[in-house]
Amino acid sequence: MLKINKPIRANPAFMKVARLLAHVVIFGWLGIVFYQGFSDQLGGDPVQTLLDFTGIGALNLLVISLIISPLAMSFKFTQLLPFRRPVGLYSALYGLSHFYVFIAFELQFEMQLIFAEIIKRPYITVGFVTLIILIVLAVTSVNRIKKRMGTTWFTLHSLAYVAVVLAGLHYLWLVKSAWYEPAIYLIFSVCLLFLRRDKIKKIFK
Ligand code: HEM
Repeated sequence: MLKINKPIRANPAFMKVARLLAHVVIFGWLGIVFYQGFSDQLGGDPVQTLLDFTGIGALNLLVISLIISPLAMSFKFTQLLPFRRPVGLYSALYGLSHFYVFIAFELQFEMQLIFAEIIKRPYITVGFVTLIILIVLAVTSVNRIKKRMGTTWFTLHSLAYVAVVLAGLHYLWLVKSAWYEPAIYLIFSVCLLFLRRDKIKKIFK
């Protein structure tokens, strides 16, 4: 992995503003797109647009949350590390919004239909498992729970790598022709796993 000798140290006030800006952009963007959806400003198929936006959003945020550590280590830029948790939490929020759009607007909250879709359509099953992982990681990211769990916490949070591969598979499974986009995500996820191979090996020892 690329290593830089001199640590990068940004002005703490600048990092605070950057964190605030990240919250405004990620949360605000989701709010604006939902507002556009509910006020009929998302074109001919608002449900599809909302599904695509929240699905890609959840996947991108998950990838970004996993890139932060290797970037911070390579560039000795440890001030990036506090971005990991909020970005991971937003990935779960986008994932939940994605699920909400699907069950509310495609299945009208029909419980039987929801269960049938999860069981019968493999790409939905994979999406569902990914979502469960994201929710578990979000809930256990609270400091008090992290402290109580000790080293088990790190093992549990390695599931983020499983989630990113599953999300890539979910995407690959549902596309009809443009398979290269999900394939790029999958290749990228495998590269991330490779970068963290030593940590992952330790877990299985
Ligand atoms: C129960 C959970 C989930 C359900 C029911 C679900 C369902 C769907 C559906 C119906 C679509 C649109 C399919 C189409 O265009 O024909 C979709 C697209 C997508 N989903 Fe999910 N999904 C779930 C979880 C997730 C999660 C957790 C992620 C990411 C972390 C994700 C990422 C994506 C992506 C990237 C797309 C493609 C968007 C695009 O085409 O631009 N999904 N999902």
